[in-house]
Amino acid sequence: MAFEINDYVKWVGTIDWELKTFHGEEYSTNRGTSYNSYLIEDEKTALIDTVWAPFSKDFVKNLKKEIDLQKIDYIIINHGEIDHSGGLMELMNEIPDTPIYCTGNGVKSLKGQYHQDWNFVQVKTGDTLNLGKHTLTFVEARMLHWPDSMMIYMDLDNILFSNDAFGQHYASSEMYNDSVDQSELFQEAIKYYANILTPFSSLVEKKINELLSLNLPVDMICPSHGVIWKERPLQIVEQYMEWAKDYQEDQVTVLYETMWENTKKIAEAIGEGIMKNHPSLRVKLINVATADKNDVITEVFKSKAIFMGSSTINNGILSHTAGLMEMIKGLKFKNKIGAAFGSYGWSGESVKLIENGLIDAGFRVQKNGIKVLWTPNDEDLYRSSDFGSRIISDMIE
Ligand code: FEO
Repeated sequence: MAFEINDYVKWVGTIDWELKTFHGEEYSTNRGTSYNSYLIEDEKTALIDTVWAPFSKDFVKNLKKEIDLQKIDYIIINHGEIDHSGGLMELMNEIPDTPIYCTGNGVKSLKGQYHQDWNFVQVKTGDTLNLGKHTLTFVEARMLHWPDSMMIYMDLDNILFSNDAFGQHYASSEMYNDSVDQSELFQEAIKYYANILTPFSSLVEKKINELLSLNLPVDMICPSHGVIWKERPLQIVEQYMEWAKDYQEDQVTVLYETMWENTKKIAEAIGEGIMKNHPSLRVKLINVATADKNDVITEVFKSKAIFMGSSTINNGILSHTAGLMEMIKGLKFKNKIGAAFGSYGWSGESVKLIENGLIDAGFRVQKNGIKVLWTPNDEDLYRSSDFGSRIISDMIE
């Protein structure tokens, strides 16, 4: 299937309705995704990105319906990750000498993955490629989100091909942002930012400022996943600027994992204490053992403070909490407050371990979290409720 974006540009990608996880099991794609590839037919023809490898045969078959492959003058790979470069092997079998434009790091990643001596043309920020009427300008976008990432600006039609930036894992029959359910779209966009781009927020801000300083008109932003930003395209750029600045909402999230409901009882008491004494804040309680971990990360992203609790097991913490802590550390959240809690029956290390984990992750941690031996009694629950409320009073309000 192809979709005509304008007289020169066609979407020739793949919609992956079935995909439920991405990056192995690291990212849940509950609404599927798309791998957006774009064909520009001017006096010269350029293909921007391909699709994930399992779809490569269909991709090439469909592409042949749109164009004689021999007429493709240039292939541009904005980012070598396999969800965008995965169609190359199939394509290059047909047109092996076609030049592949990418960054220097793009060459490294493509050579490393495919071990082919293709005709690479290395480009850097400011380099251009004239297609006839239109000129493409390359803009390196290191660490948004890989060292090889790049964007392309197409003049006259004023299109930014942004690759992963501004994308969403969101399968849709509609191509444009104004045609889809807005709450779904923004939920997928913020989840994408929170889970993938958070560690690179300072670079996001810098790159966007660099792009804005060029004063180029932008009529459309075509990312490599999800829908195209056509209606007020800069709204997602403005949104990214907000997200990049240590984003927070008036939210506190209480995360817990529990063996026999005791740690859950502490979580509920902490939550109640905050709800009762800080009604201006939204409070969410999440059992991390049953929740979608990427949704949990999105809630952490939105929070001013998190409380994290686990029962103690084998002198450690429960496994979902441990996995989540690893994700939180990697995402390098800034300007957030953390506190720990947990019940135990014998040794009781969980609170200390969580506090240390949150400190390593860059949280401002209120130490001496709530430890409860066995089942919390009324006094323990009062202490928990007071702890939640007090931390918020001292550290936020
Ligand atoms: Fe969509 Fe970084 O690949």
